[in-house]
Amino acid sequence: MTIVVTGATGPFGRTAIESLLRRGVPAGQIVAVGRSVEKAKDLGERGVVVKSASYDDPASLREAFAGADKLLFVSGSEVGRRVEQHQNVVDAAKAAGISKIVYTSAPHADTSDMILAGEHVATERALIASGIPSVFLRNGWYIENYNLPTALDHGLTGAAGEGKISIVPRAELAEAAAAAIHADGVEQQVYELGGEGVTLGELAAEVSRQSGREVTYTNLSPQDYTEFLVKVGLPSEAAAVFADSDRAAANGALFTGTEDLQKLLGRPVTPIAEVVRGALA
Ligand SMILES: NC(=O)c1ccc[n+]([C@@H]2O[C@H](COP(=O)([O-])OP(=O)(O)OC[C@H]3O[C@@H](n4cnc5c(N)ncnc54)[C@H](OP(=O)(O)O)[C@@H]3O)[C@@H](O)[C@H]2O)c1
Repeated sequence: MTIVVTGATGPFGRTAIESLLRRGVPAGQIVAVGRSVEKAKDLGERGVVVKSASYDDPASLREAFAGADKLLFVSGSEVGRRVEQHQNVVDAAKAAGISKIVYTSAPHADTSDMILAGEHVATERALIASGIPSVFLRNGWYIENYNLPTALDHGLTGAAGEGKISIVPRAELAEAAAAAIHADGVEQQVYELGGEGVTLGELAAEVSRQSGREVTYTNLSPQDYTEFLVKVGLPSEAAAVFADSDRAAANGALFTGTEDLQKLLGRPVTPIAEVVRGALA
């Protein structure tokens, strides 16, 4: 039973592979796929099969997936290019006869008006159209999206208002992804995954409580937040996408409100105080 993991050269895919190894999957039955495969050299030394492939190169994907049974499809990071890239992945999986796919999607992808959800719902639809039994892990917001050590000096800034965000450590979602691909069959097609819901004001208050420093949250309009992000160095397109995510979060788009993560992990999710402690460490 061979499991291919894309995005294996990024932190999410790597953590999922570590979790599969801990679950007893033999290293030789895991195929780690990415472009910068030098980052996965150590996995290769431990017996994981490492293959280079690009979402832009269908032949490389077909070669990487050949002979595999399951695919943990970690979404790409090139926003705006992912519909075509992800279709290439789905087509290659179909050609390789993959029998189960677990895909990392976005919160409430099918109903969300967040810009980032568009490419994810298109991918979910492509997976459904392929007929391959698929699981959609609609991953909540990583705590790693917030630079809490920097917030100690500069506070937190955003445009999410009073919207609760189900903030979660990336590693916890990666562990859930490993559980989902390791499981036999497809028990549930859609999982809305996230941690304890907090407003960004509550997140700042928790950082204050733990650090003993006064950390405040400044809420801006999406337009002002876009300008703020550009001023601190983000390219304007990325800034607009981040600000749009906060705009949607203000209306609950990043609040999960399910126990799906607990279900996949087989244990309670990490409480926000512990999540913050880890991010400040
Ligand atoms: N929920 C959230 O808060 C959140 C936040 C950030 C990202 N995400 C999503 O979660 C995914 C995984 O997270 P991460 O932190 O591990 O992301 P990351 O560090 O950006 O890693 C992205 C991974 O995707 C691979 N990739 C990107 N473009 C590719 C292409 N054209 N062809 C083949 N591989 C490609 C990269 O591999 P190479 O560069 O080696 O090819 C890398 O392994 C991201 O890609 C993104 O879709 C979610």
